[in-house]
Amino acid sequence: MEKYLIRGGKRLTGEVTISGAKNAAVAILPATVLSGDICVIENVPNISDVYTILKILEHLGASVRFLNKTTVEIDARHLNTTFIPHELTCNMRASYYFWGAILGKYGHARVSMPGGCDFGVRPIDQHKRGFEAIGATVEIVDGMLDVSAEKLIGNNVFFDKVSVGATMNVMLASVMATGVTVLENAAKEPHIVDLANFLNSMGANIMGAGTDVIKIHGVKELHGTNYAIIPDQIEAGTYMVAAAATCGDVLIKNVIPKHMESISAKLEMMGVKIEEFDEALRVSAERPFSKVDIKTMPYPGFPTDMHPQMAVIACLAEGTSTVTEGVWDNRYRYVSELQKMGADIKVDGKMAVIEGIEEFKAAPVKATDLRAGAAMVIAALCCDGETEIEDIYHIERGYEDIEIKLCSLGADIKKIDVPEISGAVAM
Ligand code: UD1
Repeated sequence: MEKYLIRGGKRLTGEVTISGAKNAAVAILPATVLSGDICVIENVPNISDVYTILKILEHLGASVRFLNKTTVEIDARHLNTTFIPHELTCNMRASYYFWGAILGKYGHARVSMPGGCDFGVRPIDQHKRGFEAIGATVEIVDGMLDVSAEKLIGNNVFFDKVSVGATMNVMLASVMATGVTVLENAAKEPHIVDLANFLNSMGANIMGAGTDVIKIHGVKELHGTNYAIIPDQIEAGTYMVAAAATCGDVLIKNVIPKHMESISAKLEMMGVKIEEFDEALRVSAERPFSKVDIKTMPYPGFPTDMHPQMAVIACLAEGTSTVTEGVWDNRYRYVSELQKMGADIKVDGKMAVIEGIEEFKAAPVKATDLRAGAAMVIAALCCDGETEIEDIYHIERGYEDIEIKLCSLGADIKKIDVPEISGAVAM
């Protein structure tokens, strides 16, 4: 079992370069299926979720070749199945983008239900409704999603709930449908725009991505392309919080400052200094931090995927801060882990009420999910003593070379491999 050992108490200083966006990559890579051709994708993050998606592409019959560390060539000319088994989908949510991509290309798909972070119930009704609206039948049998259509025909789809996944999935399924599909109450996240730009670079005709109405004129076929994925908003936000919480001074490169506005605004309210450049942000801070109130919302609101990380810096602020979760039912599994490090947090319904503390105390903790894991890393960086973080596979799903990047900023973080203890101990 791999763990991180972090000896905290060091200010982060220097420069860090942000990788390609996980949530864009995990949709764009499946979308190459639609091309039936060769696609070269640049700025692909080296994270385990990407490797899982690439394994699924290989299972479908694509050839996958890394041209360098962050550029991958996918040859989707000879796919030979529309079926994806459980063992390939169970560790990640985004495997569900193969529903839309395979349906859009072949008119039918049989894909095992997805895994991913546990935030409470994660329904798929909006995906289903969208597929049905454009003429598909959707059934869930034995843990498999079966989706098929004699012909996909454009239609109006009104989402009852703003959903990133459903917006992208229906976009994928309708890009080669006959006629026009209009997605209303669509999600507006940067990765939605990135997926639409990618599809347009393959010959699709999608307008309005980034607004809540997306219009997709179906095209007969798509072709291969070269495309570079946008920088990761959440990785950048995580380094912003890490820099600020350690009272550091870090230049964060390869970011789109516009995507960071909601995060920058909250950090600035706490007293953090943020200097904006064309493709970089410099973050520097000194304590005391002012208290903050945050509510997570769909883009351009404050991202839910920055909730646990912001809760960490809120612990170090003066007075009472709050973080209200506006997207997921249960995103509070990080709380009991932070409490082990001395945090004073109470969860009241969907709100975490956070009393400021002087400092965290080192303790053995777990990464309970991807962003909760990032929060543990930040808390560990802030406290004297050695913190051990277990279950770091969650963190590696979404952060490329996190220990290397943090070491280059002066952190003391090591990955160690500890043998698992097997068998029960008689008491
Ligand atoms: C994506 C992100 C995840 C992020 C989330 C919100 C990926 C791979 N994951 O997840 O990191 O936290 O966006 O920004 O990109 N909902 C329904 N019915 C549906 C679908 C969703 O009710 O059919 C609800 C969900 O329960 C949730 C809300 O809509 O309350 C948002 O979910 P959604 O945007 O779909 O999240 P994901 O795409 O799964």
